[in-house]
Amino acid sequence: MKKEQIYILGIESSCDDTSAAVLQGTSILSNVIAGQRVHAEYGGVVPELASRAHQQNIIPVVDVALKKAAIRKEQLSAVAYTNGPGLLGSLLVGSSFAKAFAFGLGIPLLEIDHLQAHVLSIFADLPHVSTPKPSFPYLCLTVSGGHTLLLKVNDSFDMETLGGTIDDAAGEAFDKAAKILGLPYPGGPEIDRLAQEGNPHRFSFAVARLPGLKYSFSGLKTSFLYFIRDKIKENPSFIKQNLADLAASIQHAIVMSLAVKVKEILQKYPDMDIALSGGVSANQGLRQTMQQLATQYHRKLFLPALSLTTDNAAMIALCGYLKYQKQDFSTIQSSPYASTRANTRMLMPEDIDKEATSKNS
Ligand code: KG4
Ligand code: ZN
Repeated sequence: MKKEQIYILGIESSCDDTSAAVLQGTSILSNVIAGQRVHAEYGGVVPELASRAHQQNIIPVVDVALKKAAIRKEQLSAVAYTNGPGLLGSLLVGSSFAKAFAFGLGIPLLEIDHLQAHVLSIFADLPHVSTPKPSFPYLCLTVSGGHTLLLKVNDSFDMETLGGTIDDAAGEAFDKAAKILGLPYPGGPEIDRLAQEGNPHRFSFAVARLPGLKYSFSGLKTSFLYFIRDKIKENPSFIKQNLADLAASIQHAIVMSLAVKVKEILQKYPDMDIALSGGVSANQGLRQTMQQLATQYHRKLFLPALSLTTDNAAMIALCGYLKYQKQDFSTIQSSPYASTRANTRMLMPEDIDKEATSKNS
């Protein structure tokens, strides 16, 4: 079958965004995302509320995605859906819908790993735009609300973890810092916006520097919290008067700590280009720093379009299209999984140590 005739419906519901997309080959025909405002007043995602909101959103979102793509459901070739990692209650809504929909239409089902989809998001083409794509193998920094991973992408579905965080993800570091500053959830985009007006060198915050390719962001929150608490004692308006500089400085600390290990992998793999993916890859400071590193080390940098950085179903459908080509279909028996280790080849940093020990012994 020709690439042009393959239409994949993607469904994403791993956290607090209900999304549906239709791709024709690698071209995005529609990518509809319904966010969930219900979590804002809690300062973070409430799992039970998220799954309830997915139930309300899923049918209208799929309906709009099909209409925007100007596709009838009978034209679909397969349904791709996020099977994990994520919140189980949320995943169950998307996966149950996808299974029933594919079963009803008599078309194949494609289960997709959310992290692999983030990594492969750079292979999706926006309408009427075909951007350059990296050649395998290449390096990738995947930074989201749940993960911070340095990867070597050998092939579409063969990704090796070179490093990652041992505690908080980079997105969590942004969100926690934003919460301390009294900014709404999710705080990453707010910090990014404010940082553009601020001085990144006004305040300095140390991020733990671990050996090897490991990150740790949990200490940053505590030191930032104590710093702000002490300053507020002297001047209750401290945050308000210095908001842009605080945002720029905390962003600088997070971006620089990410950059240190990116430098290391660029030196270690001198012939590989590099890509960025995940929600935090929308960050302007991170994008600029990655561009500087790529230029310094004479590599090409591949960035996802901004609409493909945070959770979206276009990346799920893209991954589905790649699996469809390999005829790698799944069954309705497949159950969602909450954590990365349950069902992918990607390893976490503690596993890297175990691997290294077992290889050396
Ligand atoms: O990939 P994503 O949508 O969800 C997960 O799979 O986790 O990432 C969400 C994370 C949140 O922590 C959010 O604050 C962060 O990405 N984020 C940003 C920006 N846009 C989203 N962080 C920094 N700057 C941004 N512009
Ligand atoms: Zn995500």
